Amino acid sequence: MPIIIKSDDEIAIMREAGSIVARTMQKLIAEVRPGLVVKDLDKTVRKEFETEGVIPTFLGYANPPYPATVCVSVNEEIVHGIPGKRVLKEGDVVSLDLGCTYKGFVADHAITVIVGKGDATAVKLVDVTKRALDIGIENLRAGNRIGVVGQAIQEYVEGEGFGVVRQYCGHGVGRAMHEEPQVPNYGPADKGPILKKGMVIAIEPMVTVGDWNTKVMADKWTVSTRDGSLAAHFEHTIAVTDNGPVVLTVP
Ligand code: MF3
Ligand code: CO
Repeated sequence: MPIIIKSDDEIAIMREAGSIVARTMQKLIAEVRPGLVVKDLDKTVRKEFETEGVIPTFLGYANPPYPATVCVSVNEEIVHGIPGKRVLKEGDVVSLDLGCTYKGFVADHAITVIVGKGDATAVKLVDVTKRALDIGIENLRAGNRIGVVGQAIQEYVEGEGFGVVRQYCGHGVGRAMHEEPQVPNYGPADKGPILKKGMVIAIEPMVTVGDWNTKVMADKWTVSTRDGSLAAHFEHTIAVTDNGPVVLTVP
């Protein structure tokens, strides 16, 4: 599959999709507190997306079909956690990942928050992962190879003493949630296609306190660290423009 270039009109639609996802994400973050049953986050998304008239992109995705509208990955869970009966407690590290389809286009967005007050390691992990995404975005410029983005993320994260997950990557995004190219969160800088105006990319660093190796749990979706160490995940959908990177998943 080739890389699909988006027109300015298509990017404008994706910006609207991004706004809906980002505003819904803010609602979810406001709900996160000790005692919250994580399945309630899925209920909130279903209501919100129905009101907005958008499709929950994750629901029914792939095989076995993903059974919810949002991924909630707690502590050693990295991505693709299924919101169920789990009850959040003070200090939990909660990664929320959300996508919607609006007028045929997808926006994909993730954020990690700490329930109440986290310990120093958790706070640093979340800060470093968020900063890693910002560094990736800064490098998402026409003329750069995709590898430049990954190398910048990797150098920063490893310099802070954390691990970068290799088994899962960022991706092109458009009419499909996952389009070409793959966007690794690691180098080398001279790998991958050259970025061009009109590409829309989801950058999504997944960072671990310990080893970066992963395992898929018995539910066939939840991805955890193999060593049980804490993980965090941030993601934005970003357009490559003549004026540099434009983040689409903002309110
Ligand atoms: N942000 C995730 C990704 O890009 C969302 C996928 S969850 C799924 O892979 F359930 F839809 F697969
Ligand atoms: Co994604």
